[in-house]
Amino acid sequence: MPLTAEDGSTVGTPWFGRLLLTGLRVVVVGGGDTARPRVAELLAAGADVTVVAPELVADLAKSAAAGEITWCPRRYEAGDLHDAWLVVACAGDGAADAQVAADAVRQRTFCVGSGTAPGSVVAVPRPPADPDRSRHSPPCSARGVALIGGGPGAPDLMTLRARRLLAAADVVVVDRLAPREVLDELDEDVEIVDAGKTPYGPAMPQDQINELLIERARRGRFVVRLKGGDPFVYGRGYEELLACTAAGVPVAVVPGVTSAIAGPSAAGVPVSHRGVAHEVVLVAAHSRPGDPQCLVDWEALGRMRGTIVLMMGVLHLEEVAATLVRCGRDPDTPAVVVQDATTAAQRVVRARLDTVAAAARSGGVRPPAVVVIGAVAGLSATGAAVPAADALTASTPGPDVRPANGSGHVER
Ligand SMILES: C[S@@+](CC[C@H](N)C(=O)[O-])C[C@H]1O[C@@H](n2cnc3c(N)ncnc32)[C@H](O)[C@@H]1O
Repeated sequence: MPLTAEDGSTVGTPWFGRLLLTGLRVVVVGGGDTARPRVAELLAAGADVTVVAPELVADLAKSAAAGEITWCPRRYEAGDLHDAWLVVACAGDGAADAQVAADAVRQRTFCVGSGTAPGSVVAVPRPPADPDRSRHSPPCSARGVALIGGGPGAPDLMTLRARRLLAAADVVVVDRLAPREVLDELDEDVEIVDAGKTPYGPAMPQDQINELLIERARRGRFVVRLKGGDPFVYGRGYEELLACTAAGVPVAVVPGVTSAIAGPSAAGVPVSHRGVAHEVVLVAAHSRPGDPQCLVDWEALGRMRGTIVLMMGVLHLEEVAATLVRCGRDPDTPAVVVQDATTAAQRVVRARLDTVAAAARSGGVRPPAVVVIGAVAGLSATGAAVPAADALTASTPGPDVRPANGSGHVER
């Protein structure tokens, strides 16, 4: 079946139904009856075929004469596989085919055999690391646990390192706010465990998550703990690191793009701006001001002039805003709520500190959302914002970011 591109054009017919070789150099060593059907399949797949053989059977000779294949009329020599993506060893001589396979493996080119079964593999063991190619490999040894920051939501805001380690995972333990689309790209045999924490709802208890990470890693499986944003920004990542290291399990930490900064940014709000805000404070607002468990210094936040970013703050927004005003913050301070930032569902509500809770409520704001409080939330920057979920449309004018009126307004 030919593959088609998004615009409907044909991009090629995959070889063995899976491998798209269109325009890629493939070397076939051997020119006899075993090679003939392989060459025909490769030509049908659009590969750039070179045949190395002292002689060719009639069909292959015709293809060579017609310029459909390149023929090297001699026995195989070291160097013939240069730049090849795939090698087919069909010399019909065990020692020669073994030599071709060994050379292919050394240079990390896939090699398939001369057997009539398509894809009979001669050799695909991993050779020792080649420094030139290792830049495409996971950046640290794929063992133990990797605590990976998955970014704020859009899959293309994950880091390259995160994507590489994820591709090497045997087990993925995923949070609710991690970009789940990327899980679709994993092989079927990768174990996916949903540890999704619903806000205010049940989730896998932290102790159980820690035990799971440790138990799977001890079984020799490479475990990726995929978290939203950055693992160390209200992500309990450090607890998981401590649990794993206490159990003797190696841990790698991969920083992520945090929603605390990317959320405002996706709505066109810079958390700092020269001459406007020199301080940025992230606040976990999941517990009420006054709750004995709450470690936030609301008095200090009320006095400061810079930017406050509330995380997990939707439920108690009214009390938090009132507390900030009571502690000295100007009720006219601009405020912006960004829900589901960087995803297709992104919504933005603009208001003032004294109206933001009502505006969020009437706008139907739900978690996850960040709330930005400070002069930066009122900056006017028409056309400056990158629309959520599709960086490719970045040239589209962004929301008209005007200082909010008292009642607030919602952008979708
Ligand atoms: C438990 S914290 C995890 C934060 C995460 N580690 C980070 O760095 O983004 C969850 C809170 O992050 C914020 N959040 C996460 N993803 C978000 C998104 N896509 N849009 C808006 N806020 C988000 C919300 O405040 C949410 O309640």
